[in-house]
Amino acid sequence: MSDLMEMLIRRGFLWQSFEIYGGMAGFFDYAPLGNNLRRKIENVWREFFVINERVAEIDTPLIGVEEVFIASGHATSFVDTAIECQKCGRVFRADHYVKEKLNLEVDPSVGAIKEVLETYQLKCECGGSFGEPFPMNLMFSTKIGAGKGKNAYLRPETAQGIFINFRRLSNYFREKLPFGVAQIGRAFRNEISPRQGVIRLREFNQAELEFFVHPAEKKHPNFPEVSGDVLTLVDKFDKVHRITLDEAVKRGIIANQVLAYFIGKTRRFLLAIGIKDEKLRFRQHKDDERAHYATDCWDAEALTSYGWIEIVGIADRTDYDLSRHAKFSGEDLSIFIPYEKPVVVKKKKAIPKMNVLGPAFRSKAKKIAEALEKLEVSSDEVELEIDGERIRLTREFFDVKEIEEEVAGEKVVPHVIEPSFGLDRITYTVLEHSFDKDMVEGEERRVLRLKRRIAPIEVAVLPLLSREPFTGKALEIAGMLKKAGFYTDYDESGSIGRRYRRYDEIGTPLCITVDHQTFEDGSVTIRDRDTTGQVRVKIENLVGILRELLAGERSIEEFGEKFR
Ligand code: GLY
Repeated sequence: MSDLMEMLIRRGFLWQSFEIYGGMAGFFDYAPLGNNLRRKIENVWREFFVINERVAEIDTPLIGVEEVFIASGHATSFVDTAIECQKCGRVFRADHYVKEKLNLEVDPSVGAIKEVLETYQLKCECGGSFGEPFPMNLMFSTKIGAGKGKNAYLRPETAQGIFINFRRLSNYFREKLPFGVAQIGRAFRNEISPRQGVIRLREFNQAELEFFVHPAEKKHPNFPEVSGDVLTLVDKFDKVHRITLDEAVKRGIIANQVLAYFIGKTRRFLLAIGIKDEKLRFRQHKDDERAHYATDCWDAEALTSYGWIEIVGIADRTDYDLSRHAKFSGEDLSIFIPYEKPVVVKKKKAIPKMNVLGPAFRSKAKKIAEALEKLEVSSDEVELEIDGERIRLTREFFDVKEIEEEVAGEKVVPHVIEPSFGLDRITYTVLEHSFDKDMVEGEERRVLRLKRRIAPIEVAVLPLLSREPFTGKALEIAGMLKKAGFYTDYDESGSIGRRYRRYDEIGTPLCITVDHQTFEDGSVTIRDRDTTGQVRVKIENLVGILRELLAGERSIEEFGEKFR
């Protein structure tokens, strides 16, 4: 186990789920500190992707009726290929097994895997042979209600809860594009034999944003804010570019401005929570790698002890989801976009010839005439469906008249750009990128250099000595800070040096110490985790000073006299 993982378990960030029953791969519990950390990361995400955008957040059920996932394509297309050992019975996800054993990136289809197994005579770790590769759907299925019940699935992404509410959501946004809808919550995937610890989970946390745009105007009004940012991009041909977003759009490396905007915004968010820029890249999916709904996708990948891992996927889902749900539900999921001023269009309309239709179609003639009048004609033949019967009509049954019509706007099915964040992987990456060791007073120290605003414990109050009056005063200050809304801890056990180390290890940025001088002049010291420097401040100024310190990253020394 890595030093970091050992610390995360021992100090209460992450615990193996179902531990007393032997555990289960793909499930982790958020222990008190980890839970706090992830929730704080979620709140920074809200700041970036909800509060400062034309975006609203919703919360929909974790279970979805099967119709949703039949329409979305997950019921048929959300599959991985599995291989089962004939000897030991273990089942592996085929493309991962091939990558691990042969260092080959393979097309994960059943056919391609079968070919690889034969070509390389790939065997199980136990020496046994694999049977025929087979597809496995990754959704957990369940039933709603008693008896036969209703087929349902645990959602594999939060996104579908947004798409199926599109009618009401577009109404909420006054039918005006672009707008976005976000959702933070659990999603579930029945991964085949997950072997990457906290990285591949069967139940996980997503923060997703579905940003709806006019298909012909894939632009974002805030693009200029990020257009000059320089990023590392790896395109689908594995070519690496160190380039501004503006240049990447101009050169067609990123297909449109909305994708580029969210790539830029994603990078800024990840940096704000402490992910290292030099360990971050954006990689475009290859043509055989994309999900069934995406035409283009860029992953934010972070370098960790697991290698480069995907932590965010930014996909252009086009109108795939809305069109599918419109088709399967029968609902109109388009949006009416008025033109700036109405335009006049020429149309060819059919004029029914009743004297010919009447004798030929008798009782149906009236219905046919009505249907014809609604038609715009583009050729000499038209096809109609009348009471379930398809009827072809040639020009002997209708005349054609050219008319001019004023058109106020058009109905469009919006396209969706989706930044989808894996919060568990992001939380873990933040922990890895923050975990550090240095030397303090000749001793090695472990320190979690978390950004102050996401630290699970923001401030620890420590009496210099574990007796009165130090303890009473420290408890009183801790109570005051809790009331002011700080995540505050109190600790009186062990030497002051040991206590500082304990809080350094869990990333607490500031420690307050009650010492002898406290009782002389009403002051305490604030100690900075990163520099280990201290300043002395009056207790009555403490709340304001802590607020200022926690909102930024400036060290306490930088504030100098201001705090005295
Ligand atoms: N919504 C994208 C994903 O779950 O991968």
